[in-house]
Amino acid sequence: MSLLDIQDYRLAFDTFDGTLHVLDGIDLSLEAGETLGIVGETGCGKSVLARSLLRLNPEPPARVVSGSILFEGEDVLHLPERAMRRLRGRRVAMVFQDPVSYLNPLLAIGTQMEDAIRGQESALGKSRRPRSAIRAQAAELLASVGLPEPQRLLASHPHQLSGGMRQRVLIAMALAGNPALLVADEPTTALDVTVQAQVLALIAGLVKERGLALMLISHDLGVVAASCARVAVMYAGTVVEEAPTAALLANPRHPYAQGLIAAVPDLDNPAHKPRGIPGSIPNLMTPPTGCRFNPRCTLATDICRSDKPMLRELAPAHRVACHHAQP
Ligand SMILES: Nc1ncnc2c1ncn2[C@@H]1O[C@H](COP(=O)(O)OP(=O)(O)OP(=O)(O)O)[C@@H](O)[C@H]1O
Ligand SMILES: [Mg+2]
Repeated sequence: MSLLDIQDYRLAFDTFDGTLHVLDGIDLSLEAGETLGIVGETGCGKSVLARSLLRLNPEPPARVVSGSILFEGEDVLHLPERAMRRLRGRRVAMVFQDPVSYLNPLLAIGTQMEDAIRGQESALGKSRRPRSAIRAQAAELLASVGLPEPQRLLASHPHQLSGGMRQRVLIAMALAGNPALLVADEPTTALDVTVQAQVLALIAGLVKERGLALMLISHDLGVVAASCARVAVMYAGTVVEEAPTAALLANPRHPYAQGLIAAVPDLDNPAHKPRGIPGSIPNLMTPPTGCRFNPRCTLATDICRSDKPMLRELAPAHRVACHHAQP
């Protein structure tokens, strides 16, 4: 049994203007301790997919059209809300892009960490521990994410911390529940480059030490490639290619993945001119039939306009959803 198994998952948003067909048949799985990166342009559905794992997309407007999401064998899409609360933040921890909006500016860090720890324990039906024990655990968690002087930090308010420190606090809070899976959605986008590298190194270290599985979401292929053994490339709500990171970088097979890799500037070779992918992402209210990438694809033929390509394994663990990709 995989830790996470997503099959043919489709999600739509019913809005006043019409239905957005956001996720269109996602197939992905993750084993315990595995690291998977998800990349794709803005609006392709990465965050919606991440939120789906914990059923955090508000329904309505969100509507599950089909498919299943199994986490540790349990069907997340049909779990009662009580069981769902046990999953959230405990077995599955999430860290988001913008640490500011997930911390309460009015409360001390220590109070927020205590709430997080108590929340985990009450969801588990554990008896209440004395405050001193909770504080000690909070300090330990802060130290485990490399924050100095945890005691002083517990008394601080969010505005007294740098962006990188706030992100570390959120990661520490995410770890309070002893998760099996850490989902990090653009965890470093709001940070400057050196701090970004530190936070990624921290995540990589925690994943290794604690044997966590990681789903790391970014529009930046470099970020994902540096931290994940496997990468899935999304385009307009579909997974177009999924492969071991080295194989994907060396030999991308889907025309969109090829375009994405060609668009990365090469610092070692300034003569390499990054090329963008002509055209723009489709309107998800009226997505293209067949392959959603077909209007931008130089290889597109009739079948690409009529039939949705399924992910096929073309090399070991290297799966591509393109009618024209050859083994
Ligand atoms: N609550 C909502 N109601 C309506 N549409 C939504 C809602 N949440 C997301 N969407 C739509 O779903 C699509 C995918 O959004 P999502 O946030 O997953 O993109 P993303 O890949 O994470 O992009 P980015 O890289 O910018 O974070 C977008 O078209 C967005 O407008
Ligand atoms: Mg997003």
